[in-house]
Amino acid sequence: MKLAVIGTGYVGLVSGVCFSELGNDVICVDHLKEKVALLNKGEVPIYEPGLKELIASNKSEGRLQFTTDLPEAVRQSDIIIIAVGTPSLPSGKANLSYIEQAAREIGLAMNGFKIIATKSTVPVGTNEHIQTIIASQTAFPFEVASVPEFLREGTAVQDTLHPDRIVIGTSGETARKYLTELHRPLTEHIMSTDIRSAEMIKYASNAFLAAKISFINEIANICEKVGADVTEVAEGMGYDHRIGSSFLKAGIGYGGSCFPKDTQALIQIAGQMDYDFKLLKSVVDVNRDQRFNVIRKLEASLGDLAGRTVAIWGLAFKPETDDVRDAPAFEIIDALVKRGANVKAYDPIATANFRQQFGESGVVYCADAEEAAIQADALCILTEWKEFRDIKPLSIQSWLRTPNLIDGRNIYSEHELANTQLIYYSVGRPNMNHGVKEQKPLLSL
Ligand code: UDX
Repeated sequence: MKLAVIGTGYVGLVSGVCFSELGNDVICVDHLKEKVALLNKGEVPIYEPGLKELIASNKSEGRLQFTTDLPEAVRQSDIIIIAVGTPSLPSGKANLSYIEQAAREIGLAMNGFKIIATKSTVPVGTNEHIQTIIASQTAFPFEVASVPEFLREGTAVQDTLHPDRIVIGTSGETARKYLTELHRPLTEHIMSTDIRSAEMIKYASNAFLAAKISFINEIANICEKVGADVTEVAEGMGYDHRIGSSFLKAGIGYGGSCFPKDTQALIQIAGQMDYDFKLLKSVVDVNRDQRFNVIRKLEASLGDLAGRTVAIWGLAFKPETDDVRDAPAFEIIDALVKRGANVKAYDPIATANFRQQFGESGVVYCADAEEAAIQADALCILTEWKEFRDIKPLSIQSWLRTPNLIDGRNIYSEHELANTQLIYYSVGRPNMNHGVKEQKPLLSL
């Protein structure tokens, strides 16, 4: 099939490349000239395992092109996939201006029947809006569809080539037929539904996963009070198939380009319909507060943080990505700087992105993990990079001036900490906290 993919962010670029890998002719379009030039040189603007190799092989076989010329890409294609960004407005609502602009430009460029499928996460009703915009620009026939994307950063290629399911929301029979055919090589789980339900499936899925994370984080906070171990609790819960074991890792809360934005957007969507989504509002509140547990534990360990040196390992919102969008590191480092601490930060690949957004004020960016930890009064681990897991706690102890370790991602086991003098705090595992030798009785007769 001949495809144009509008937008070369995570979703557009990875989808376009994977569709070309399946043997389709794909033209990826972006209005950013520098980005297109970079992609045409074989370079990749995002860090995503496996993507560079796939781009190189599909480009060399002539199935994959990059251009800024949207009208030409539309004219040459049968299916047009919209994958432009929908960032949050200050109100929390999704900003649809890129979507609307893409729809107008597609409409103007039409030269025959087209299928226009949206992969961007968009509020319920947006695809109908897209339909109206395109119809206002052209007399050619077309059908619209919502095909939400569920890929995760860091495993985006794998997720796209082996999805759990594909959701196709459309009222057009031709769109249903061709989009099913396009996605058929990826999975047998192709769900066909109406447009509004497809749009809602994406928000509901992300909101549910965010809720799972906030739920286990609150359970972790209670575990710290009652002397239970949240990793054991999550394992025991996860064996129940109705619950499932994934997304039950307690930590410092979720970040990234999707969960924070999509939870806010769904709260807004509900609010516009006079529905108060109380549960999701709490999910968001719990997530914000969870980040500050790092600060609370540091203060419990060090007292006043003014003048103290605090090392930070991990700036990306999760491992295997250089993406720092809504990373917990922003608020945690900001709180440290406001308290007068000197911060030394290190991330294997996200430092440049973080530095560009956060700036230099109060933070020294380090070239490796050891440099950050040397002579610090405490170390906080904010991202569970494998590189950090491979460092022995005894090395950390030898680097720090005072051996305070706040492990925000539970990367170390009790066994690994044995024989160290580290003053250790993790999340929801009070039995591993320094100085806790035996549990207090909870009930007295
Ligand atoms: C997410 C969804 O998983 C994906 O389906 C959607 O398309 C986009 O949003 P992504 O943001 O790439 O993907 O990352 P994900 O792996 O889901 O993690 C999101 C955040 O949740 C990270 O900050 C991660 O650290 C956190 N998380 C995840 C936890 O704190 N605990 C968990 O158990 C799982």
